Amino acid sequence: MRHLSVPKRDTQRFADALAAKEWAAKGYRILADGECTLIPICATSPDDLGGEFSQIPIVEIAREPSPDNTNWLTHLANHLSAETIEQHLGQWPNAQEHFGDLIIFKADDNITEHLREIALAKLEFSHKSRLVLLDNGVVGPFRIRELQPLAARHQGKILDQHGIGELDEETRTRVTSTRVPITEYGATIITDPSVVYYSARLANERSQTVSMAITLREKLERPLNIADPYCGVGPAIVQLLRAPDLVDNFLATDLNPAVIELLDENLTASGAGRDNRFPTGLADALSLAENPNLVRQFDLLLMNLPHDTIDHLPRLLPLLRDDSPTLLRGWVVLEEMEIPAAEARLGEIIVNMQPSPNSCELEIRRQYSTTKVLTRFTAWLGA
Ligand SMILES: C[S@@+](CC[C@H](N)C(=O)[O-])C[C@H]1O[C@@H](n2cnc3c(N)ncnc32)[C@H](O)[C@@H]1O
Repeated sequence: MRHLSVPKRDTQRFADALAAKEWAAKGYRILADGECTLIPICATSPDDLGGEFSQIPIVEIAREPSPDNTNWLTHLANHLSAETIEQHLGQWPNAQEHFGDLIIFKADDNITEHLREIALAKLEFSHKSRLVLLDNGVVGPFRIRELQPLAARHQGKILDQHGIGELDEETRTRVTSTRVPITEYGATIITDPSVVYYSARLANERSQTVSMAITLREKLERPLNIADPYCGVGPAIVQLLRAPDLVDNFLATDLNPAVIELLDENLTASGAGRDNRFPTGLADALSLAENPNLVRQFDLLLMNLPHDTIDHLPRLLPLLRDDSPTLLRGWVVLEEMEIPAAEARLGEIIVNMQPSPNSCELEIRRQYSTTKVLTRFTAWLGA
């Protein structure tokens, strides 16, 4: 389901504006998302909302409708007293992500003593979910989430951590598995949030990448060579491969060894040709341009390494062709006040490598933290 992603302070204004157009999704709650809120959009609204919504990032996430007058908090009353629930009103974790049949949520420190009850209530409410996990934040060089299983559904029963611990090892491994299929714009992508990065919130970005790739393909009048050197489990390439006659050859690589098996599975399921000319699998993006067979081979380059994209850019630009139009799309996390400097630096790097860029645009896509935003740059380069 599509959602408007708006700063918290603008929630009411945009919720009212959406309702006035009759584009609000009825029966779905507005979700908190860090410093933003996600306002659900109904399925019958136009693809392009236009007007006051035209600059607002759209975030795609799977949702289950909230039955009238009930949500997971109703079930919390099965486990905690009314006084305890009242005492922490406003602190209970309403925001959660659904990854296939997983529910992942973050919790404030002041309610950690009630994590068991929260997990049981969430699972009781969400009948199709199998496992509830606490998100303890990202760890390690690949910024993978540290996830702690709190409750699981097994043979129709809901088990807490103690119950999970009493299962035999094989059953426990199956019940607590975080490897799940996700459906994104009609494609199934296998991922595992406890070992690799994947964000359903970027689905809309991937859909726009496909549209822009189709525009480039029309310009070039031939299928494209595409490089996704930070590909994760391959969601962007999978979507590009689904568009008929769009991809000629592609590079899909990542430095995290844990993505490779899932990437292979996703590429195979999307019918990626065995005659693909370029590497897929494990590789450090920073050394790709040392391979002469990859230099100036690509029409489209994707760079989704949000904390280091601009630093990596000079080492990746040589992959783009210099004798025909090319497209570069990258995502960067920035302090809002750093945006002008980042734009200037981006322009400088591109002009040094590709003297006549046609255009380079940096846009805010959504709030990332209190002071940081996720931005996206799009550059049309070449002749
Ligand atoms: C933000 S994730 C994006 C993943 C994927 N593009 C997606 O949208 O789901 C960044 C990815 O870059 C990978 N990565 C980090 N440093 C890298 C490097 N030097 N070379 C290749 N991949 C790298 C990480 O393992 C991670 O999978």
